[in-house]
Amino acid sequence: MAFETITMRPITPLVGAKIENVDLNALTAAQETEIRQALIDRKVIVFRNQQLTPGRFADFMSLFGRPDDEDLEPVDGNPPNVGVIHIRPHEKQTINFWHMDHSFRADPAPKLGLYTKLLPECGGDTLFASLEAAYDGLADDMKERIAPLWAIHQVRPTQNSKRRYTEEEFKAMMARKTRHPLVGYNPQNGRKFLFVNTPVYLRYVDGMDAAESETLLDTLYRHVQRPEYSFRLVWRPGTLVVWENSHCLHYPVADYFPHERKLLRVAITGEPIEAVPAA
Ligand SMILES: [Fe+2]
Repeated sequence: MAFETITMRPITPLVGAKIENVDLNALTAAQETEIRQALIDRKVIVFRNQQLTPGRFADFMSLFGRPDDEDLEPVDGNPPNVGVIHIRPHEKQTINFWHMDHSFRADPAPKLGLYTKLLPECGGDTLFASLEAAYDGLADDMKERIAPLWAIHQVRPTQNSKRRYTEEEFKAMMARKTRHPLVGYNPQNGRKFLFVNTPVYLRYVDGMDAAESETLLDTLYRHVQRPEYSFRLVWRPGTLVVWENSHCLHYPVADYFPHERKLLRVAITGEPIEAVPAA
């Protein structure tokens, strides 16, 4: 689709776009409409050189849904719907694998936004992969095989979860199993997507023999990681990224220890994963 009030530059043919000629402090209604469309089309949109307060960041994210109160610790006097992903100099980032946030919930956040606060001199990039592109790239026999399947997602502790919940809350979360279709349907563009996640969260195919399930999910998880479906974002001061969390995986590269890195995050209120409608 052609855009008239923003400049949209694709990052790779299959995923990502840079959005230029916009000031996120002063958007027109026409720009807001085109930015929403660009996100649906490209899955991940990147803005550079934006100067926003945390409150204005949350206001901007409300273009895409209702910003949820964060489960990351609120700090620095930020509004409750602005969380912080903060790796201190004495810590080493341990989330260094392809994943989606929240797939262990019945209603994962459909969209997430990150905005830079503090960056290492280099490193700490983030890669994003489109699960719609990954689905399209499957062989026809694999598409047929996985069409009727549902899978079980369940949380395990991660570096961030340790800071977010009390022990009782986390025990209750760990016990909860969530069932999602393995192939999802995006009503906004009519496309199907491969709803897979890291084995940390995606445990097994419902009703399938354990060994067969493990082999299938491993094949699909490796398929999503083909470089054709992703791009690598190099953060700079003033960079803001919005992505469709439930239609993408992301990979935060943990190569910057012992440097500090701090990003603000806004999550949009969760939505269920839709199965493909019956023909
Ligand atoms: Fe994440």
